[in-house]
Amino acid sequence: MAFPIHRKRRLRASDSMRRLVRETWLEPAQFVLPLFVCEGNNVYKPISSMPGQAQMSIDRIVAECREVESLGIGGVILFGIPSHKDETASEGYNPGGIVQRAIRAIKAECKKLVVITDVCNCEYTSHGHCGKVVGNDVDNDQSLVWLADAALTHAQAGADIVAPSDMMDGRVAAIRARLDGAGFTNTPIFSYAAKFASCFYGPFREAAESTPQFGDRRSYQMDPPNAREAMHEMELDLEEGADMLMVKPAMAYLDLIRAARERFPVPIGAYQVSGEFSMMHAAAEKGWIDLERVMIESLTSIRRAGADIILTYFAKDAARIL
Ligand code: PBG
Repeated sequence: MAFPIHRKRRLRASDSMRRLVRETWLEPAQFVLPLFVCEGNNVYKPISSMPGQAQMSIDRIVAECREVESLGIGGVILFGIPSHKDETASEGYNPGGIVQRAIRAIKAECKKLVVITDVCNCEYTSHGHCGKVVGNDVDNDQSLVWLADAALTHAQAGADIVAPSDMMDGRVAAIRARLDGAGFTNTPIFSYAAKFASCFYGPFREAAESTPQFGDRRSYQMDPPNAREAMHEMELDLEEGADMLMVKPAMAYLDLIRAARERFPVPIGAYQVSGEFSMMHAAAEKGWIDLERVMIESLTSIRRAGADIILTYFAKDAARIL
């Protein structure tokens, strides 16, 4: 029953035919745009390693969010660049901190946009680690208190979803308990459940000024070769009360997006991280690759693998051409 009865090329003959039989679609509503918010007024500080991305002050972030909303993009995820960092990440859970003020300003202007916050300590600690440093290690349980406090201040400021990205054990349960205790039973938790100690975060650390001053994150983020362990991380986060699960990075971990999709009934997100974005830009700048096509192809592959939601720096560019 094979050739010449079957000719797969019949359904590839034209644009309209290909469109008719297309299995995977991209919608702006599935995208989440990461944004970096800093102090000041009318500040737009381009990030050299991430073309088109910038640290922005709250006024500029609000303008950006209006545009994001008008493009039909699903949401934004906020990262804070505080002017003050210390050993205890205190700006991270300051109710008047940079992210908390940004949330209030955005929610006042953009009623429909889903505002997600990244919950982590690394942008707020002087040493750049994701929690409390004791000796040469990060103390898990003390870090949970700061994370839960931060998540609560985000919810109080009006965040629609909180997304812990630190990879401490038990953070989802700690955040859930803290939110529920304060009456925020309806704030969902989008857990960066399978987050790997990846070299693809390089450009982000310039963007968020969060490079660890000593050592690396391998004692808390996952070891890249481990897939079974990723499933266990996700299972535990679901047990602790996560509403949505994330795999990060995306392109080098498509197998895990697929495995998560088949195994868990909740929305699965994937983060197309800074290194993935910058790498494609760099190749395009050299004239080695077509940027628009690689953008759409890479985003499509993440959806095809099974992601419902994609966190991507391409959100606006992709939404414009869809
Ligand atoms: C940590 C955090 C990181 C990213 C998102 N949240 C960096 C890290 O773990 O070092 C990376 C995002 C990217 O590379 O685009 N708060």
